[in-house]
Amino acid sequence: MTELAELCRRVLAASHAEGERRGVRYSYTRPSPSRYPWQWYWDSCFAAIVWRRFEPRRSREELETLLAAMREDGFIGHVVFWDRPLTLQRLLYYNVASRTAEMTGTIQPPLLAWAWRIAIGDPAAEPRIARHHEWLRANRDLEGDGLLWLVQPDESGLDSSPKFDRVWGRLRHASYGFPLLVARNRRLAWDARRIRDRGWPVLCEVMTNVLWCLARRAAGEPSITPAIVERLWDEPRGLFLDEVQPGGERPDVSTWAALSPLALPDLPEDIGRRLVEEHLLDPRRYWLPLPPCSVSAEEPTFEPNLGRGWKRRYWRGPTWVNAAWMLWLGLRRLGYAAEAERLASRIAEAVVRQGLREYYDPLTGEGLGAIDFAWTSLALEMAEPEGYL
Ligand code: GLC
Repeated sequence: MTELAELCRRVLAASHAEGERRGVRYSYTRPSPSRYPWQWYWDSCFAAIVWRRFEPRRSREELETLLAAMREDGFIGHVVFWDRPLTLQRLLYYNVASRTAEMTGTIQPPLLAWAWRIAIGDPAAEPRIARHHEWLRANRDLEGDGLLWLVQPDESGLDSSPKFDRVWGRLRHASYGFPLLVARNRRLAWDARRIRDRGWPVLCEVMTNVLWCLARRAAGEPSITPAIVERLWDEPRGLFLDEVQPGGERPDVSTWAALSPLALPDLPEDIGRRLVEEHLLDPRRYWLPLPPCSVSAEEPTFEPNLGRGWKRRYWRGPTWVNAAWMLWLGLRRLGYAAEAERLASRIAEAVVRQGLREYYDPLTGEGLGAIDFAWTSLALEMAEPEGYL
């Protein structure tokens, strides 16, 4: 086993949690045992993908644990509190109906079926996945074109991205106003239609819909790539931009999410090439020493290395390995082999040198944020590709 693989295996193994809650068995990977002890939806999907290399049984257990948390109607929350209750301080900014809630009332990017396809097999053979997709369609596809709408920035997993600054203003993530957003949405049970009908923002976010599209395709449902292009592609800028309702505003900030449709196998090739050549490979924008930064270095909001204290503002510049992997998938598919390899080796070097950190300074490669961060093991998917490509 290479040094990178051994490092990843060790962190995944040390982050494994298992037990029973009210008769329901769980077995999942803590995103970072010291900072994020519970089960996070998208972190679990990424961990399941990497577990298949070491212990395939764990991939299945990881995703089955998400399905075990699923409500009768198909809803699965963003965070599931299996083995310990929420701390009092976190109650203020976690989207729970009460401190004894078993999971949050919000979602995270729903890539479960895609992870299932990569790590386990055919998701169509698991009826609970179909029920989960049904909930998403019934509750979050507000305009009937297949695209999902979010009610809070943290539902995208990209919590404090500057693209949300204008949308949620003083109530944005990691601001003193954020608990007010949580309290307001809690009163409406995070119901997207009620929130929109009150005139409060709901967002058709690019990257969430990319992962949703991959999950749908994996489950044998029709692709929504045409709807993503139709609604979110901004031809003059050559970027995908979110849409806010009510009002229809398109926040014009270049972040890695604007390039994330590169992960879609059925993205029209001319669009993919524009994303790569005009943005991703531009050394003034995303192709920094440790690419890809999470916000274009040309944006006035770009912050390469913030992230200390309780008001940690995530996704405002540092490089995250799940983002690197999704964009790398596009580089490979479109034939940018040398660049894909460079990306993979720079990430692998940083991870071996600094350990599995939550994110990295794109200018210096310094590891930042939480330690022993499970999804950073996706570095292996790029360094030692295997299987699904
Ligand atoms: C941070 C990230 C989010 C992730 C969570 C647990 O909140 O922004 O994407 O799921 O940590 O790792």
